[in-house]
Amino acid sequence: MRSTTILTLLSISSIGVLAIPAEYKPNNADPVKLKQKRAAAISVPGQPLTKVPVTWQTVGPNPTLGTIRSPVGTATFPVYTLPTTTPPVYTLPTTTPGYGYSTPPTTLTSKTSATKSTSSSSSTYTPVVGANSTCANRLKIEVLQKTDPDQFNMLLLAWQKVQTDPDSNPFGHYQLAGIHGAPYVPWQMGPGSYDYSRGYCTHGSALFTTWHRPYLLALEQALFNAAIAIANTFTGTAQTQYLAAANRLRLPYWDWAAPDTQSYLPAITMVTTVTVTKPDSFGNPVSAVINNPLFAYNFLSSSSVAPLGSPFSSHLSTRRYPDAGWNDHSASASSSMQSGFAARVSSTYNAFLSTSYNLFSNRIEGVHDGVHGATGGGGDMSMVSVSAFDPIFWLHHCNVDRIMAMFQATQPSYWVTPASAVGTFARPVPPNTIDDTTSELYPFRRADGSWYKSSHLTPVSTIWGMKYGYAEVPCSYQTKTPTDLDTFTTTQINMLYAPGRPSTPGTSLDWNVRLLIDQAEIAGGFDIYVYGVNPPNPYTNPYGQGFIGSLSSMSMGATDQYKQSRIRFVDISLNSYLQSYGVYSSDPYTITSYLTKNLYYTIIANGQPCYFQDLQTAKIGVYSRNVYDTGKIDSLPYYTSDNYYYLNVTQGVPGGIKSVQDITYPVKVDGSREIPWAENNSTGIQS
Ligand SMILES: *[C@@H]1O[C@H](CO)[C@@H](O)[C@H](O)[C@H]1NC(C)=O
Ligand SMILES: *[C@@H]1O[C@H](CO)[C@@H](O)[C@H](O)[C@H]1NC(C)=O
Ligand SMILES: *[C@@H]1O[C@H](CO)[C@@H](O)[C@H](O)[C@H]1NC(C)=O
Ligand SMILES: *[C@@H]1O[C@H](CO)[C@@H](O)[C@H](O)[C@H]1NC(C)=O
Repeated sequence: MRSTTILTLLSISSIGVLAIPAEYKPNNADPVKLKQKRAAAISVPGQPLTKVPVTWQTVGPNPTLGTIRSPVGTATFPVYTLPTTTPPVYTLPTTTPGYGYSTPPTTLTSKTSATKSTSSSSSTYTPVVGANSTCANRLKIEVLQKTDPDQFNMLLLAWQKVQTDPDSNPFGHYQLAGIHGAPYVPWQMGPGSYDYSRGYCTHGSALFTTWHRPYLLALEQALFNAAIAIANTFTGTAQTQYLAAANRLRLPYWDWAAPDTQSYLPAITMVTTVTVTKPDSFGNPVSAVINNPLFAYNFLSSSSVAPLGSPFSSHLSTRRYPDAGWNDHSASASSSMQSGFAARVSSTYNAFLSTSYNLFSNRIEGVHDGVHGATGGGGDMSMVSVSAFDPIFWLHHCNVDRIMAMFQATQPSYWVTPASAVGTFARPVPPNTIDDTTSELYPFRRADGSWYKSSHLTPVSTIWGMKYGYAEVPCSYQTKTPTDLDTFTTTQINMLYAPGRPSTPGTSLDWNVRLLIDQAEIAGGFDIYVYGVNPPNPYTNPYGQGFIGSLSSMSMGATDQYKQSRIRFVDISLNSYLQSYGVYSSDPYTITSYLTKNLYYTIIANGQPCYFQDLQTAKIGVYSRNVYDTGKIDSLPYYTSDNYYYLNVTQGVPGGIKSVQDITYPVKVDGSREIPWAENNSTGIQS
């Protein structure tokens, strides 16, 4: 650990309070001990944080993140233009998409109707349609490797091809990954007026799950097409064999809550080379050892990485837990992931019990954030700006998409409801903008040239139209009824994610801890960690002994440290933790006494310790909820009460709640209160 820590709180009148890196004295803080209550705030050794006013300007450098940009328009951003070699596929529609903002991005127009000069590359686009084949299930990566070696072989060959495609190819790995964040260039949209501080991806919004669906489909399309092309270069029976495999090639997923493989990183993502069967110059199959495309993405040149921001701009490979020499430590990623396994399973299961789509989306996004934090360890996966360059990003998100499909199958009447919007690269949002099912999911176009919208992604059977399914939402159910599918998927959810579930009917208490914060209060990335025992080394080994779960907020990347003011919350299930310590009970006195003594939490911002008492919007509170379970394998439990918050567990400690309002109607950095977006209009949350 560094001997100096860095965090200063700065007051900015128009925005509220933001934290930026600045000089700050060392300390050896313990995580806040709930059992010490008020005394904990003053028992923490270390120097108080300095508060100074600041104007918006470029500051830094930060040792991890590089130069921090100004939140106002004083900093300049590089503007990149699309390369000129995009292969034409379709001509563009003449209608302009409906941007609801004062300076709409210039979109592509057909050559005849163009009124602005656009580069020649901009006159065409390829829609995102997925595999050109019949419906095939996406498989768990370990299952794919074991049960379909031919498809697995084609996946490796195809992804290697896509990763070595030139940066100018919109369906190459470089540009596809670049949609998510850096290098902040338009993707098949032509020049325009964009927000160059962020990528196209949506996080912390009602569109989180739906936006990533066509995003994954775009890579699947690239892999599929590459696999078909490679298969065609085999000759004879090998061609027949590998064409068949290419036709069923779909993106695999990493189930980080699986009963068998648990939360460990898939073994195949941790080895640097793999043996494949590829065609020789005569089209005959030969064995070859290649760089493993699931381990890391290797950038093609130093100019490719230049726009990614420090430290990524000086390294030609993606990394997990990189050390000073940029060596990979995927084993650390794997053990960090595994230590959160038990709570991850119950939080995943709880997501399926959500009482609205938006709440489901927020819950699964919270689980997803924790995976990014634990897998990245300061490497690519930790940053919104570069995470999609690491191939494991796609396996991770494929699992999020799968869980989304499973939720859709079991809750067909729930869907995205209007919620306050989050701005993206192509969709700046003025105050009071709403995201809903008609919001365009830029930059993805459907076959007819229209933008994808969430409304195109419901009901769940629409995935089969995109030529993929999952084992739990299988292509084979295309001919069955939605009720049959609901029963089937529900059974799978119970079998996978509810180990030890009672088989007799009854009501029990579901225990959770809720963490929340206005994400704008801390610049860059931060994690709030919760422990069920006093953690021995929370700052050097945050995922160590006693770790239960976290609220992770990924850094946007070196060029955008500041996030839109927005309450982010995560509900971490405590049931499996309580069960593993043999103390689970439905008696509030027993559990609240236990938690008051044994629950610990700490926060690390940009790799440095930080204190709850210095934050104005961070809150932690324990709640329970009655859950009725029929015990039947084909039905899910459901809530029979609202959340009940126990003030006496965290009252008086830094970040503790003094009133139920503190956590259901929390304060933002500007002092106003807001119901967290995911709970707007969901049923039965306020208590
Ligand atoms: C889809 O595949 C069929 C045959 O397999 C081919 O004729 C057609 O051109 C393909 N379409 C696209 C858009 O690649
Ligand atoms: C809120 O929920 C009700 C049904 O519970 C629904 O009729 C209404 O459209 C929803 N409103 C919003 C803004 O989502
Ligand atoms: C919920 O969202 C709607 C927009 O759909 C907004 O008008 C309303 O004020 C929100 N309600 C609360 C309680 O935040
Ligand atoms: C905490 O408060 C709840 C009621 O809100 C009560 O049931 C429980 O017994 C209290 N716990 C302790 C340790 O006093």
